[in-house]
Amino acid sequence: MIRRNKEILSLYASEIITADSTDLNQTFIEELRAYKFQDGETIADIGGGIGSRSLIMSMLPLKLTIYTTEINKQLLQYQNTLYKGLPNKFRYNKVEVIKGSKNQTNLPTDRFDKILMTNTFHHLKKVPEMLSSIHDNLKPNGTLFVLEDLRSNQFIPYCIHQITEEDLIDKMAATDFVFVEKIWIGKQSLFIYNKK
Ligand SMILES: C[S@@+](CC[C@H](N)C(=O)[O-])C[C@H]1O[C@@H](n2cnc3c(N)ncnc32)[C@H](O)[C@@H]1O
Repeated sequence: MIRRNKEILSLYASEIITADSTDLNQTFIEELRAYKFQDGETIADIGGGIGSRSLIMSMLPLKLTIYTTEINKQLLQYQNTLYKGLPNKFRYNKVEVIKGSKNQTNLPTDRFDKILMTNTFHHLKKVPEMLSSIHDNLKPNGTLFVLEDLRSNQFIPYCIHQITEEDLIDKMAATDFVFVEKIWIGKQSLFIYNKK
């Protein structure tokens, strides 16, 4: 499956195939496109969960430096095992797994071109502290991508937390980030912010 995805992702990156012509999860392809990754970029995925996004990003045919953070011990262990267990021929880029904390990412300062937070914002216990830490991690022109399912009154499988659009906008407005745009990725909202 990994080998097959790698081939599909190469075709996608060369724009030989489009989201409509692949049987990979279509919204994920849309999401990847929205990040507009460039060769040489340094990326972080905050709250990477089981690490599936970083894994796919590591297989993109681009030279990327990828970090992923987690606070959950089991998920950290899972991710470490996942990346160590993969033969190098299946990957283009190494993934660095970092133990985060409630208040900060524990990532290096002024280092990242793009930071992703997918379905993680609503899990944060210390939102202002985490957003300030992410702001510090980004390079001066860096970008933060926040992906969330903001449909109200919807049952979201396996998710006990929920956040409204107003809440997310308010929390972001209290930071130094500058709103760029919001785009739809399937039924999810992707908010894009620049570092001031
Ligand atoms: C719903 S999961 C999303 C996982 C993955 N990003 C995805 O979209 O499938 C949210 C994750 O954020 C992690 N998390 C919560 N607070 C965090 C923090 N301060 N730093 C790093 N990870 C955190 C949780 O442990 C959980 O695994």
